[in-house]
Amino acid sequence: MTLAELIPSLRTWLPTRLDERIWPDRTTALPDGDITVGGVSLAHLAETFDTPGYVVDAATVRARCRAYRAALPDAEIAYAGKAFLCREMAALVADEGLSLDVCSAGELATALAAGVPARRILLHGNAKPDRELRAALTAGVGRVVLDSLGEIDRLGALATRRQDVLVRVTPGVDGHTHRAVTTGVDDQKFGFPLGHAAEAVEHVRRQPRLELAGLHCHIGSQITDVGVYEEAVRRLVAFMAEIALRHGTCPRQLNIGGGHAVAYRSGDAEFDLHGLAARIGRVLAFECRKHGLAVPRLTLEPGRAIAARAGLTLYRVVTVKRGTRTFVAVDGGFADNPRPALYGASYEVRLLGRASTAPGAPVTVVGRHCEAGDVLVPDAVLPADVRAGDLLVVPCTGAYHHCMASNYNMVARPPVVAISDGAARPWVRRETEEDLLRRDS
Ligand code: LLP
Repeated sequence: MTLAELIPSLRTWLPTRLDERIWPDRTTALPDGDITVGGVSLAHLAETFDTPGYVVDAATVRARCRAYRAALPDAEIAYAGKAFLCREMAALVADEGLSLDVCSAGELATALAAGVPARRILLHGNAKPDRELRAALTAGVGRVVLDSLGEIDRLGALATRRQDVLVRVTPGVDGHTHRAVTTGVDDQKFGFPLGHAAEAVEHVRRQPRLELAGLHCHIGSQITDVGVYEEAVRRLVAFMAEIALRHGTCPRQLNIGGGHAVAYRSGDAEFDLHGLAARIGRVLAFECRKHGLAVPRLTLEPGRAIAARAGLTLYRVVTVKRGTRTFVAVDGGFADNPRPALYGASYEVRLLGRASTAPGAPVTVVGRHCEAGDVLVPDAVLPADVRAGDLLVVPCTGAYHHCMASNYNMVARPPVVAISDGAARPWVRRETEEDLLRRDS
């Protein structure tokens, strides 16, 4: 507990460390209203790079990668690039010793352009077109995760040399998360339900160039319960035993996907990485012993848990409408963060760059896009004197924000500015209207 937390009145004249469960490591609120990350002023970043803008703290990304590697030293950690990818991010996670999960030709091209060794790349997707499969084969990706019988046949026909593959199995385990990101149960589009997975394995075995390296499952995203991973391991090891019995060989890898929840607001539940680390190896060893199998190597694919807390978004207030409700409208919104509209996601928001002694007031922070549903934070509390020109900062936007940004209303996408070693540098520049017109004939 900090001194300022013990004696709240000190807050106005002492720097305060912000909650490291939702802010980047070493984020400090200063008495003048500025906030620094790794010593870099966010208000200064807003002035230099303009708003709206995403900021990512490289040190926090590195720390998250290291936390995973330290907690599970024998497992392969593959960063799920769909959470946030650009060349610098791909190079950084590779430098931290992680593998990379990509799910499109675009993510693959980004990883390769960053110099990520192809053998450390896994290609995912429930509907990979031939051109994507061809790109993966040409690059020599380490593993392709197979999702349908047709895809097994297509990949087998396209491969000109041996290719390691994983079969994606739906273990019938419910992660109790948002419907849009529930993938462990049978009635959704991904993978082979356990009842059909044996047929998929047969198909792979009929393809002379495909080598069944292992099984894959991904239960869903923003999961808080470690127990569902244990149950998935039990079911997949039982299926591995079936494969071993029928074919005399057993896959060597078991990929249990990602999905580890992060806190978006102080007090939100988050995933217990150390709990998982303590329990998953034990369950795996026990189940393998029970079935007389060699223990396969585990792979985990965290995306959000690596990137989310490293990122934040800076906005400028364009207008404040006071009526029965106070609407604080900012210069971004739905196009840079569709998550509130898609999943009912909740965020915190803070005034940045100005010290205010006004009491907190309930406000609705809305975006600038042309629909009433463009609400960023419906239940925010900001100083009652919040006004046009103020800066706001929303934490925990490092995952599934930049990558989900759109050009809705022909609004150019914000840059990603990285903080590294006490300096800031754009990893992705701001899009311009010229960029938007470039594709338009
Ligand atoms: N592995 C596979 C096969 C996946 O499909 C995903 C995420 C991950 C790993 C990483 O999951 P994570 O650790 O990041 O939860 N747009 C949604 C999230 C979609 C997740 C899709 N798959 C959101 O904004 O919450």
